Amino acid sequence: MYKVRLDKYLTEMGLGSRSEVKQGIRKGFVRVNGETVVRPEHKVSVKDKVFWKGTSVDFVEYEYIMLNKPAGVISATEDSREKTVVDLIPDSRRKDLFPVGRLDRDTEGLLLLTNDGKLAHRLLSPRHHVAKVYYAVVSGVMTEADIRSFAEGLYVDEELTALPAELDILSVHPAAGKSEAEGSGNPEGTSEIRLKIYEGKFHQVKRMVHAVGKEVIYLKRLSMGSLRLDEALRPGEYRRLSTSELEELYAE
Ligand code: URA
Repeated sequence: MYKVRLDKYLTEMGLGSRSEVKQGIRKGFVRVNGETVVRPEHKVSVKDKVFWKGTSVDFVEYEYIMLNKPAGVISATEDSREKTVVDLIPDSRRKDLFPVGRLDRDTEGLLLLTNDGKLAHRLLSPRHHVAKVYYAVVSGVMTEADIRSFAEGLYVDEELTALPAELDILSVHPAAGKSEAEGSGNPEGTSEIRLKIYEGKFHQVKRMVHAVGKEVIYLKRLSMGSLRLDEALRPGEYRRLSTSELEELYAE
C-alpha cells in the first residue's frame, strides 16, 4: 500500500508549509490511529486515521473542480498582482491545483481545475483534438461564407491555419436603422455565434473571428470534450465534478 511521510501528507492537505507542519508534529498536534506521533518521517497510508489538533484529516489524492470563470481573473496558479482562478477556490483540499488550459482574462465559462496531470495532458494534447465549444458575441455580421471558411480550415495568419471548425450563427442584429439586407456584412452590427474547435491555440477564437473581418466582444466557453458548463453556476462559482462526468472525461 502507498505510504507517505506524515509531514508530506499534512502539507499536501494544506495544513501549512512543510516546516510549520514539522513543528506542529513535534509539538504533539498529531494523532495517528489514536496515538500521538511526534516524528515527521512517520509513514502513513489512506487507511490510517490522522488527526491534526483533534480534527480528522482525510487524504485526497486528486481533486476535480468545474469553475465558471468570471472575467477579470487570470488562468494561472499564482500571481503577485492579479487574482487567479486558483484564488477562487478557497476550500480546495489540494494545494497543487492548476487550470487545465487557459482562458483569456476577459473570457468567461468552463474551466476545469485539477491536480491530475495525466488527465490534463490527455485533454490538452494536440494529438487528441478534444472539442471545445464557445459562445461569442461578435461585432459585425457573421455570414454563410464565414461558416464555409471555418468548415474548410481557415487561414488565420502565418502562424495559424485552423483545423476545420463548426460555426453556428445563432442570431444577427444589423446596425440600428438598417434593414437586415443592408446590415449584412456591415461591421457595425453584432452577431451571436457558437463555435466548436478541435484545438486550443493562443486567442484562437478571437483570431479566427478577426480573420474574417469581425471582432469578438464577449466570449464564454460552454464545453470541453464531454464536460459541459453547469448553467446553474454563476460566474465565479464552482463545484466538484460528479463521478460520471469524470468517467466520461477519462473515456475521451
Ligand atoms: N479563444 C480565445 O480567443 N480566447 C479564449 O479565452 C479561449 C479561446
